[in-house]
Amino acid sequence: MRMVDIIAKKRDGRELSDDEIRWFVNGYSNEEIPDYQASAFAMALYFQGMTQKEAASLTFAMAESGDQLDLSEIEGTKVDKHSTGGVGDKTTLILGPLVAALGIPVAKMSGRGLGHTGGTIDKLESFKGFRTELKQDEFIKLVNENKIALAGQSGNLTPADKKLYALRDVTATVDSIPLIASSVMSKKIAAGADAIVLDVKMGSGAFMENLEDAKALAQAMVKIGHSLNRKTMAVISNMDQPLGRHVGNALEVKEAIETLKGQGPDDLHELSVELAAHMAAAGGKASNEKEGRKLIEEVISNGKAIEKMKLFIEKQGGDATAVDNPDLFCTAAFKKEIKAPKPGYVQSMHAAQIGRAAMVLGAGRATKDDIIDHAVGIELHKKIGDEVKKDELIATLHSNQPDTEQAEEMVKNAFSLVKAKTEKPLLIYETIY
Ligand code: URA
Repeated sequence: MRMVDIIAKKRDGRELSDDEIRWFVNGYSNEEIPDYQASAFAMALYFQGMTQKEAASLTFAMAESGDQLDLSEIEGTKVDKHSTGGVGDKTTLILGPLVAALGIPVAKMSGRGLGHTGGTIDKLESFKGFRTELKQDEFIKLVNENKIALAGQSGNLTPADKKLYALRDVTATVDSIPLIASSVMSKKIAAGADAIVLDVKMGSGAFMENLEDAKALAQAMVKIGHSLNRKTMAVISNMDQPLGRHVGNALEVKEAIETLKGQGPDDLHELSVELAAHMAAAGGKASNEKEGRKLIEEVISNGKAIEKMKLFIEKQGGDATAVDNPDLFCTAAFKKEIKAPKPGYVQSMHAAQIGRAAMVLGAGRATKDDIIDHAVGIELHKKIGDEVKKDELIATLHSNQPDTEQAEEMVKNAFSLVKAKTEKPLLIYETIY
């Protein structure tokens, strides 16, 4: 095969065979195909799109390009959840204990954050002593004993995706739905998922800013999952404002704990229960989502979910006493109150801007090597649809530096206040099976 022929075939809109796609993935991973040909190929894919069959081939080839987690020693259906990324999204911290409390094995690989959305590992490291570097046998033992373990990404998972994603980043070819879908799904397949529940975010803080694109991405990922014989479904959820009321690592962990105790904010509770209910159904513990909801609400109200959280933290070396004593989490030295400049209703709130303000305070990384500050972040007292009086508190910045001017400006500008009463946005737009 010659790369130039494969590029030309795609450029002309013809379907590539499984062999041709595998040949490209292997050749590009092994440095036999140069970046300039891979760039031309990515651009041809960007403009011509991919058929479902092509996307499934690309996903599988990328999943097979490196190590694959072998979770066969874990009993039960391994259900993974993936969110396309949002501000204040701490659902992974909640869903793990919720579904593990039902007996579904949670064998989760997670990453650190980069940019304006945080990573689950960073959040969990707010617990003093928490370890995420687990050897494969320890990881499997923890899941078999306690139904839950979470490890940092180790080994060489999906190197072809890493290489292609980095190339797409500098060749203006990231925003291609089949390429995003294959990239996300290849990582889930390599991480050993039997079933996958996807949370596709849509709005000002998300990759996908409108319903049409979010739906297309959700459908593409669900179809890839089905083609590869994984039970897969997607929920399209709102990301026009941060999820819950806190953005920043320790602040988000405290909110996740409140939610597991049944005292979390409504939107975070609702989305967590919805996703967990789908996971319960995919994991065979409920016959449908409705029954799953009932079971999930039960483990919240009878305390089994929060007990599972404590066990999970303790088994990975973390200080689980912080679950009942949140004062043990680190706190920031300064609090800066932001007040409404005029009366009205919150019409919109730019979620990505709030995420970036949290990053400026030190809650996130601008580059891979930045060190994050677990204590800092933003607390939102008002959300879309809420009425505000002039000078009423709308947000509090938690900072370890006295000068918060830049973040203050960003948060103030993220809020749009209008006179007319505004509606609260829908939280869940659609579910794709
Ligand atoms: N996230 C991914 O993992 N891959 C993409 O291509 C885009 C977003």
